[in-house]
Amino acid sequence: MEKIIKLNKKHVEELGLIDYESEHQGDRERNVTKDSMKKEIIGRFHKKQEVFFGYKKDNELIGYVTLKPFFPGYHHCEVYWLAVKKRFQGQGVGRKLMEFIEKYAKKKGFRKVCLYTGKDMIKTRGFYEKIGYNLINEFPGYYGFLTGNTTAVLYTKEI
Ligand SMILES: CC(C)(COP(=O)(O)OP(=O)(O)OC[C@H]1O[C@@H](n2cnc3c(N)ncnc32)[C@H](O)[C@@H]1OP(=O)(O)O)[C@@H](O)C(=O)NCCC(=O)NCCS
Repeated sequence: MEKIIKLNKKHVEELGLIDYESEHQGDRERNVTKDSMKKEIIGRFHKKQEVFFGYKKDNELIGYVTLKPFFPGYHHCEVYWLAVKKRFQGQGVGRKLMEFIEKYAKKKGFRKVCLYTGKDMIKTRGFYEKIGYNLINEFPGYYGFLTGNTTAVLYTKEI
């Protein structure tokens, strides 16, 4: 059985695992661990800036997406996070999570979804372009990483 559910603090362990198993480009060179990912997620729940939704297959959370219901501009919002476990990538889960969050944002009265991703995240950029996101700009030094490429690209889609 597959469904998308709203997530809460009780899911931090599973969310950390999704991030760890999504093999986000660049994580390995930055020495990211399961524990550091979990801590980051706990911090994000504390801030209360994001709404979290997860994709559940049978009894396992295999992907998640989050929305920040604010972004500069007229009725803009931001997809802040998206990740699918590596072994479930390429099966339409990312697309379904994005379709879900776009519908959710539209229902809440937003007219544009914005998102940042790494300039050198070629696969991820290909995915967003495939599902209708347009490149707006790039921001050198957007990310605070100490190593690797810190330039972000901004994409938006009208919903
Ligand atoms: C990016 C990510 C979320 C995509 O999720 P996914 O479940 O693998 O993607 P889907 O299977 O839903 O792909 C949707 C469509 O995009 C296409 N697509 C996927 N990757 C693509 C690429 N690199 N270039 C072009 N198209 C691509 C697929 O072919 C599919 O098209 P189709 O429906 O016509 O077959 C996933 O790969 C991931 O978690 N990556 C690591 C973490 C990450 O980069 N997160 C985003 C940070 S901002």
